[in-house]
Amino acid sequence: MNFQQMRDEPLPASAAAFLWRYIRIRPAHFVAMVALVMGAACCAVVVQYGMKLLVDAMAAGSAADQVWHAFGLFMALIVMENLLWRLGGWVGCHTIVGSCADLRVDLFHHLTGHPMRYFKRHFSGSLANRVSAIGAAADKVYGGLTWRIVPPCVDFIGAVALLLAVHGGMALALVGCVIVVAALITVFGVRGRSRHIAFASQSARVGGEIVDLVSNVWTIKAFSGRQRERLRLEREIGIEADSHRSSWMYMEKARVLHDICLTVMAGGMLGWAIVLWRAGQVTAGDVVMVSALTFRILHGSRELALALVETSQQMGVISETLGIVAQPHELSDTAEELAPTRGHIKMLDVSYAYPDGRKVLEHFFLDIPAGQSVGIAGTSGSGKSTLLGLLQRLDDVRSGVILIDDRDIRSVSQDSLRRQIAVVPQEPTLFNRSILENIGYGQPHATEQQIIAAAHQAFCDEFVQALPQGYHTPVGERGVTLSGGQRQRLGLARAFLKDAPILILDEATSALDSDSEAIIQRALCNLMRGRTVLAVAHRLSTIANFDRVLVLEDGEIVQDGTPQELRESQGRFRTLWQMQAMVHNR
Ligand SMILES: Nc1ncnc2c1ncn2[C@@H]1O[C@H](COP(=O)(O)OP(=O)(O)O)[C@@H](O)[C@H]1O
Ligand SMILES: [Mg+2]
Repeated sequence: MNFQQMRDEPLPASAAAFLWRYIRIRPAHFVAMVALVMGAACCAVVVQYGMKLLVDAMAAGSAADQVWHAFGLFMALIVMENLLWRLGGWVGCHTIVGSCADLRVDLFHHLTGHPMRYFKRHFSGSLANRVSAIGAAADKVYGGLTWRIVPPCVDFIGAVALLLAVHGGMALALVGCVIVVAALITVFGVRGRSRHIAFASQSARVGGEIVDLVSNVWTIKAFSGRQRERLRLEREIGIEADSHRSSWMYMEKARVLHDICLTVMAGGMLGWAIVLWRAGQVTAGDVVMVSALTFRILHGSRELALALVETSQQMGVISETLGIVAQPHELSDTAEELAPTRGHIKMLDVSYAYPDGRKVLEHFFLDIPAGQSVGIAGTSGSGKSTLLGLLQRLDDVRSGVILIDDRDIRSVSQDSLRRQIAVVPQEPTLFNRSILENIGYGQPHATEQQIIAAAHQAFCDEFVQALPQGYHTPVGERGVTLSGGQRQRLGLARAFLKDAPILILDEATSALDSDSEAIIQRALCNLMRGRTVLAVAHRLSTIANFDRVLVLEDGEIVQDGTPQELRESQGRFRTLWQMQAMVHNR
């Protein structure tokens, strides 16, 4: 399996499997990194042995060249150790940074595959924070394992080996102590996890809350809500601070326990070594080595304890995020492509309910021949947007089938389906990129000429030329620097550029003033030519010259005919029409 195939596999749900996946993608890098660090840690232990040799040589009053020999060995080990540390750092820097970049991209890619209702359930700010935070968390886990967990383990094994050479009993005692300490730390680490997870989840909530506040700052000002929001945020952050304190204090307690264990252990070992030295069983060099090693293990295992607790915290962060983001996609996708269609739409016996159980469509039938323009009228909440959403497969129908040119839309890839459909919503959303890029989003391979031609067709050109950088002007977050009518025209230009056989307009002109509406109406007429059109219209005059009008009520078609027919026959459409005519004539 190659690199790309591995990354296309579904995301695992557990943090360990998730991190392992990126190790498998760069196995050689990770092995090299860990091997170098282990080598460096080995050198660091053997340096203590070099010190012992030096002390013994000096204490025994050996010949000068023997002392210098020991000194040379000692120095060589130190140089070697540093060399390996730096090499390990160099490899690690490439490996870990690369992996954390990959995993964020993969997570984001998975995130955008969720159906729209997923994004209604989750704060966008907290999702954004999570994707960024998982990179930092993975970085800490990989880095922590490599530089803070592996070296003390190597130290420990090396120390036991060296102590065995000096005194078997001491080596055994060291093993015993470390086992007790490790067991304590593990128990603490596992028991503390729920606190760390609670902290991570509350802190993501606060992140989401702040994004929500910032994006609603206008409302906060307009309704004099600054003080209220301050109190509210204080409450939320207060909860976060409590869970942070609880998670931190837990670590502090673990540290106290650890300190006590290690002071006893280090003191005991050194005392023991001195007793042995007085009895003439070990040399002065041995005492130096035992004390240096014990203090090393003391420091190392303190670092190890912290690293383990922190790693378990970060694993908590990762599994929290995976639990939310890495769920399997609720809509299936296939690789099958929908070939360019003529735009014949059929809905056969379609029933649909929202996840909260609200039934919108039941046993719904509709047949729209290719090239027909269909206006959809009906009161708010009658299911118009739901119907259009189902056609784009923003969600799957509960039963029944939707066909485009006689192909079930579930049997083709979502991307290829949506390539056949251009949508102009009530409020097109814009990226904080240039106008050129925003229009060009409709057709990824469009040339600048094509984009400008589409802008002309949508009557954008005039106002775009007047902007300071023309087509290269950035539009600000969600297009704040443009008026509603201008944003809407950019939305239309996208649809012109996309040039899809099916066109969906969901109240595309409802939010506009009459001037803008007149311009956009002209552009729409051009855009509709030769396409299958489904247009939800609030103002019925906009669909007066369509081929066909449907009136929807509670998810059912209550009227279906040409606009002329519906105006003349008794019914809902006629009433609505007369009401709107009255308002207009007043
Ligand atoms: N995400 C949702 N979750 C639950 N119910 C929804 C959701 N979106 C819409 N509805 C409900 O479905 C019904 C149809 O909504 P919609 O299709 O948006 O109506 P329309 O576009 O005709 O105004 C409404 O009763 C609405 O409350
Ligand atoms: Mg609607």
